[in-house]
Amino acid sequence: MDVAVIGANGGIGRKVVSRLANAGHDPIGVVRHETQFEAVRERGGEPRLGDLEGEFAPALEGADAVVFTAGAGGDTGWDKTLLVDLWGARRSIDACVEHDIDRFVMISSYRAGEPLAAPDAIRPYLVAKRCADDALRSSSLDATVLRPTTLTDGAETGRISAAFESSSEDGGEISRANVAQTVVACLDTETVVGETIRLFGGDTPIEQALDPNE
Ligand SMILES: NC(=O)c1ccc[n+]([C@@H]2O[C@H](COP(=O)([O-])OP(=O)(O)OC[C@H]3O[C@@H](n4cnc5c(N)ncnc54)[C@H](OP(=O)(O)O)[C@@H]3O)[C@@H](O)[C@H]2O)c1
Repeated sequence: MDVAVIGANGGIGRKVVSRLANAGHDPIGVVRHETQFEAVRERGGEPRLGDLEGEFAPALEGADAVVFTAGAGGDTGWDKTLLVDLWGARRSIDACVEHDIDRFVMISSYRAGEPLAAPDAIRPYLVAKRCADDALRSSSLDATVLRPTTLTDGAETGRISAAFESSSEDGGEISRANVAQTVVACLDTETVVGETIRLFGGDTPIEQALDPNE
């Protein structure tokens, strides 16, 4: 599958590109600067330029699926949260609808389901994530929303804990590597289409954790 990764130079994005290539997919790494092209190629991806605050839809051309793992990050202002995390995500969804790209995996965030239950400092970020998730879930796309808790740069274990919407299960931090591997597994798992799944560190093999009947 040709999979466009928006945010391909990020912590999760880099790992998604290499894991997609290892799994036999053809990743397209959408990045903001040409200086980031070589790193995408080294991970087995085809680099393309795309800026969520500018021109980016052509970068998705030919893709069968899109993974959104971009983000303005905690060191920018709420203006960038609105422009990238909310509006950039909305534009990505609209571009997929327009270009008949059916499959979309969104990296959202733990607590995006209930922004006002979170600490004051991150509520606006979670509102942006929640609104982007809602736009995706009400679109015509085959969507999976992943809501990982605090991310670490820990190792890939291939094991996580996953809580579907009906579950009140809670948990601790998860490595970007395990989130990236979960993204790849989602693209191969029909049953997670239409699901919103919270992700934590855990001991369950990823494919098993993604099975709603487990
Ligand atoms: N940090 C956490 O604990 C946490 C928890 C739950 C969910 N999340 C979410 O997980 C996702 C990935 O996290 P991460 O740690 O991998 O983030 P990251 O390393 O900060 O990567 C984010 C990427 O987004 C790109 N980006 C920013 N603005 C852009 C724009 N205008 N157009 C195109 N790309 C743009 C950045 O590009 P450059 O490389 O050029 O700067 C960067 O590569 C984010 O959506 C984040 O909100 C994070």
